[in-house]
Amino acid sequence: MAKNERWASRVGLVLAMAGNAVGLGNFLRFPAQAAQNGGGAFMIPYLVSLVVMGIPLMWIEWTMGRYGGGLGHHSTPGIFQSLGKSRAWKYLGVLGLLTCLGIASYYLYIESWCLSYAIYSLLGGFSAEPPAAFFDRITGQAPNEVFAVSVPGLVMFAVCIGINIFILSRGVAGGIEVVAKVAMPLLILFGVVLAVKGLSSHPDADPNMVESPWIGLNYIWEPDYSQLGNPAVWLAAAGQIFFTLSIGMGSIHCYASYLRKKDDVALTGATTAWTNELCEVVLGGAILLPIAVSYLGLEAVRQSVAGGSGFGLAFMTLPTLFNNWGPAFAPLAGFLWFGLLFLAAITSSLAMGQPVMAFLEDEFNFSRVRASWALMGMLLLLAVPVAMIHEQGVFSDFDFWVGTFALVVFALLEVILFAWVFGIDRGWEELMRGSELNVPRFFYYVTKYVTPAFIIVILLAAVFKPSVGWDGFFGSIGSGEGVPAWEWAGDSVIGKILHKDLVTPEGASPEVVSYYESLRSIRTYDRLGLIGIFLFFSALVALAWSRKGTQERGTPA
Ligand code: PHE
Ligand code: NA
Repeated sequence: MAKNERWASRVGLVLAMAGNAVGLGNFLRFPAQAAQNGGGAFMIPYLVSLVVMGIPLMWIEWTMGRYGGGLGHHSTPGIFQSLGKSRAWKYLGVLGLLTCLGIASYYLYIESWCLSYAIYSLLGGFSAEPPAAFFDRITGQAPNEVFAVSVPGLVMFAVCIGINIFILSRGVAGGIEVVAKVAMPLLILFGVVLAVKGLSSHPDADPNMVESPWIGLNYIWEPDYSQLGNPAVWLAAAGQIFFTLSIGMGSIHCYASYLRKKDDVALTGATTAWTNELCEVVLGGAILLPIAVSYLGLEAVRQSVAGGSGFGLAFMTLPTLFNNWGPAFAPLAGFLWFGLLFLAAITSSLAMGQPVMAFLEDEFNFSRVRASWALMGMLLLLAVPVAMIHEQGVFSDFDFWVGTFALVVFALLEVILFAWVFGIDRGWEELMRGSELNVPRFFYYVTKYVTPAFIIVILLAAVFKPSVGWDGFFGSIGSGEGVPAWEWAGDSVIGKILHKDLVTPEGASPEVVSYYESLRSIRTYDRLGLIGIFLFFSALVALAWSRKGTQERGTPA
């Protein structure tokens, strides 16, 4: 039974938590976000977000998780209820299941691509077939088609879900921890080999190179202060910090709930954050962009990233570039790169599945095996449609609603719950119980005031903008021109609800027009689906409540 599950060792816990945080976010999402938001201009908001939101929220989630776990709760509905008296908290905690399941439904699909690519690379497939053709083959994509079905792609996807479910059915210590102990060291090894090989190549020795790989590294690290007043960059940076640290998802809470009451959370929580950052800005920054820049030039990379996500570079471009490393090494390099992505992904997708399992085990007394079958059913129901619909419409939409927006909302809720409802003094005492790190008092005030204020500003900036634009707004400060008028921010939350981000190209043919219309209606349906999951879990919470009154178990003595 989940209530008695524990991590087996400290090393195992640290690696499992690092596995949770380190994922596709580090190696695909980070380089893309950094490049899309002006390289060096991105890093300052990114680091500020890390200090004022990332680290405090990491500690909050570890502390809440251990506290709830001590009362027999391992998922956020129960954990929230342990800290707040109002029963509303139990329902708000459902958001922590929605995000995990919602993210898993597209994350697992990408994870299955990584597995396919790793195997195909090792077999030397990319020396003959262009990666873009392979991509279309496993995703079944064709231009302007709404449905994209590939049988081999769906088979790999099912295999991937199966592997995850099997590991989860082995339990926290027997499954997740064992896998993390193997996967994390391997992942670091693969990454170091690729980064060293990429950065040590030189245009003098390799005639195909157009630039030194260090140019790609500089691109992220050269500070650029010009974008500091641009809220879009701040939003993107904060969103990346949440996503990459697995914060605002109910996932860290779940892992932390398998600690003992006096196990340290302060030092281990901080270690998780630093390991993730090391794997993101050092390792994640040293592979994709430097290799791409050295063979394609900075301008070409900048342009290719500006349009899409990191996917194009990672899945279409990089395997071709590896061929420059010689026919003997190229297949291995491809295997290392996609193997690294797969290991990073699977240790994260396990972390999205466990909260849902824990919820069923705690609140409905499901056995672990039964919970894992139930999770598999939910994933198939949700993820297969995502995999079959041309991802342009659905991935970015899911990533926005459950991978960015919901995280910020959830983070605001939990910082209020922790610092203001439970109370920062009690919270601080909990954080320091058994602590091996003397957390500076500075963070007491940051957690109480700065973190919530920061999140509120970010949410507001996603919804409203000054009618004179942000440049005009900052320019008018102190000029005595009076308060500017405010309007809906067209390209963010409200704009997305109204599909303003899905503009049909001008002069498009009737087929393209109808394709875009279908995408818009699919996006309406996928949102209804997300609301559906939320209501589904809410109903389960209500059921659990009426069955055995979790509020009694949840009330601290
Ligand atoms: N933090 C992971 C990444 O960077 C993603 C993740 C989301 C992990 C939700 C667990 C839960 O890829
Ligand atoms: Na991460």
